Amino acid sequence: MTNILIVDDSEIMIKFVNKAMRAEGYEMLAAQNGKEALEIINRVHPDLALLDVVLPDMDGYEICRALRANPFTAQIPIIMLTGFSDIDSRLMAFESGADDFVAKPFQLEELQARVKAHIRRASSYAARVETGIRIHRIAVFSLRGGVGISTLAVNLAAGLAQLWGEATLLVDLAFVNGQDALMFDLTLRNTWADLGCLVPEEIDADILEKVILRHPSGVDVLAAPRRAEEAEIIQEKHVQRILELVQARYKYLVMDLPHDFSPTTLAGLDLADNILLLVAPDLASVRCASNALSVFKGLGYSDEKVQIVLNWNFGTSGLARKEIEKVLQKPVSVVIPNMPDTLVTALTMGKPVVLESERAEAALFEDLAYFWSKEDYKKIPPAVTSAAWQRVMERSKRRQSQQKKT
Ligand SMILES: Nc1ncnc2c1ncn2[C@@H]1O[C@H](COP(=O)(O)OP(=O)(O)OP(=O)(O)O)[C@@H](O)[C@H]1O
Ligand SMILES: [Mg+2]
Repeated sequence: MTNILIVDDSEIMIKFVNKAMRAEGYEMLAAQNGKEALEIINRVHPDLALLDVVLPDMDGYEICRALRANPFTAQIPIIMLTGFSDIDSRLMAFESGADDFVAKPFQLEELQARVKAHIRRASSYAARVETGIRIHRIAVFSLRGGVGISTLAVNLAAGLAQLWGEATLLVDLAFVNGQDALMFDLTLRNTWADLGCLVPEEIDADILEKVILRHPSGVDVLAAPRRAEEAEIIQEKHVQRILELVQARYKYLVMDLPHDFSPTTLAGLDLADNILLLVAPDLASVRCASNALSVFKGLGYSDEKVQIVLNWNFGTSGLARKEIEKVLQKPVSVVIPNMPDTLVTALTMGKPVVLESERAEAALFEDLAYFWSKEDYKKIPPAVTSAAWQRVMERSKRRQSQQKKT
């Protein structure tokens, strides 16, 4: 489905254009100010944007420049719609990076024809660019602490890096108590706190590069601050800026989220392609998961975006999978068995279990990393296959032949 975003402060104009574009088979999104527009663009990445010039918070030219400056949004076709038809306004539109200009009032047929032409041109461009260039973002979340968020996030990030050999970033957004760097035995040379003391708009890719820690497995880590009190200096704007910057540089982003619905958490959840909602087999955890699901529903997240992961973080008898599914009214996608000694050793050694390829538990996390990989990647085997990829394929073949026998 082709998505078009219209940004206009007039509700009537939005209705008028939406009707005409829907008649052409496009899916319409609308924003009435610049902030809303940028939020939608970063989240949805529309196929084309129609921008009004005069908006309550920022003007259409500014939005246009912001889109062109970000590699993730630089290719989106932009048509400016404006009441000014003088030559200076037209020049301003083109100078700020717009592809086209339509003066109000306009004939709907003309707008429809121009939109069609720009979308056709952009899609032939996109076809030439490598497919699957978009980053894939996975958020690991629970409203209850201690259910294994970090364990899954760390193993997933290392598993993805090993499978595909592509740039993979683990972002620890649990600012108060995050331990992801420790789980990789990485020295806390730099952390989020170094970014928190900067003006968000001034943070660029070079600064980000300097703050990121690198692990030999191929995972990059943006670590939580050393001290809890440093968390206070990091604002929502910092988080949005960083999440925006990483899109151009990474193929996979894994986010270790805190157990709340703070603005930081919401920024991560909104942006995620997949949310892995962790639940332990106890009543309190299931109740938290149920609350989280109803908030997700209110936020308009699709059913496919959210997947339930049942983690047996304790060994004694817990709630049955069926009971949990009944309460949550959603199937459990994946079950992680209890593995106490293995995870304690992994933590002590600072080596995620997925990197201990000879262990059975590593196979589980490797398979999960494959399961949550980009669909584009799974369709085409990599040119050079990694050892992790070969192991995953081998296990998958074995499972298939066992299924055939039974
Ligand atoms: N499947 C499992 N089997 C055994 N122990 C587990 C399992 N999953 C997690 N644990 C253990 O539970 C503890 C909490 O895990 P982890 O730190 O990953 O959770 P968290 O949700 O990130 O916690 P926090 O709220 O502190 O951020 C750790 O000691 C971890 O080793
Ligand atoms: Mg944690």
